[in-house]
Amino acid sequence: MNAATTPSAPGKARTYLSGVQSSGLPHLGNYFGAIRQHIELPLTDPAEHFYFIADYHALTTSRDPEELRERVRETAVTYLALGLDVERATLFRQSDVPEVHEITWLLSCTGGMGLLERAVSFKEKIERGLKPNIGLFLYPALMAADILAYDTTFVPVGADQVQHIEIAQDLAASFNAIYGDVFRRPEALLSREHSKVPGLDGQKMSKSYGNSLWIFETGKLLSKAVGRIATDSRPPEEPKDPAGILLLDFLKLFLDPEDHGQWCARTLAGGPGAPGYGHMKQRLIQAIEERFAPARARREELLKDPAEVDRVLARGALKARARAVAVRDRAFRACGLR
Ligand code: ADP
Ligand code: TRP
Repeated sequence: MNAATTPSAPGKARTYLSGVQSSGLPHLGNYFGAIRQHIELPLTDPAEHFYFIADYHALTTSRDPEELRERVRETAVTYLALGLDVERATLFRQSDVPEVHEITWLLSCTGGMGLLERAVSFKEKIERGLKPNIGLFLYPALMAADILAYDTTFVPVGADQVQHIEIAQDLAASFNAIYGDVFRRPEALLSREHSKVPGLDGQKMSKSYGNSLWIFETGKLLSKAVGRIATDSRPPEEPKDPAGILLLDFLKLFLDPEDHGQWCARTLAGGPGAPGYGHMKQRLIQAIEERFAPARARREELLKDPAEVDRVLARGALKARARAVAVRDRAFRACGLR
């Protein structure tokens, strides 16, 4: 974990905030790049913590209402099953805080168009054939409002979101330059080791790229998914540079550094003791099954008790909304709307 700089507004408490889109099932990239930090940070730092399910953002691509509802629930259940302590952290649904749209508008009226035109993730989505809607273009402005609405200081995310946080800093600065010190400057917080987890094809793992591995995948479907991890036709005994082997990157997520180092050393040495790709896949399947077994069992329990999940989200919504209303009011007063 490393914070780039100290946030502004000295003297105020630290606030951590992050969101995960409910556009698909949470995958290993989401876990190692973001969710794991969201769960561990409240245990190590008694600051304020807000984590939310970005269902408004999911609507930029989602078209099936039932599926969206189910994925919102699945994302909430994932946080709870993985152990988010909801006594220390606030878990909520983005759409329970409509004030973010008011803040989006305020930021849109003072921010320059060029900021959004330069957004890399927007360009990438279009390059991958997504038909751009207005929401997709405004996506970083809404994300900036999400962040600024809670006086956030740190945003724990994967590397792909850093530019969005810079946009939030710039939008806050443009507004503040005109109306005074209204919005607090946030900083990105990246996982030191896993800020860009590869997908099954070696590109960045993403729900929208069809290359992701669901955190709770198990049994035959897990074997099938791991079977898709890109390899080549070199035989096991041929010495190979570990740096070019995707399966070793995946193993690194799960094994302790010493164990992983041995897999790499044996791959580099080649010969009769070197592991083949099949062997690496078996080890990876075993590691995934083991790592998430307790959370998988908790997930099953939580799915049987939807009322409990609803209660957590309702409590979270109340707390998050109160905070966003206060920031919205401050911003309204500053620009003359009240
Ligand atoms: P996706 O890109 O699959 O739609 P989200 O956009 O909802 O996932 O991302 C939720 C969080 O997970 C963000 O903080 C994002 O940076 C992080 N994240 C997503 N994919 C990866 C990845 N491959 N490696 C590391 N972090 C990731
Ligand atoms: N755009 C983020 C993603 O795709 C999700 C998100 C929405 C978010 N609002 C946010 C992340 C605010 C951090 C802070 O991962």
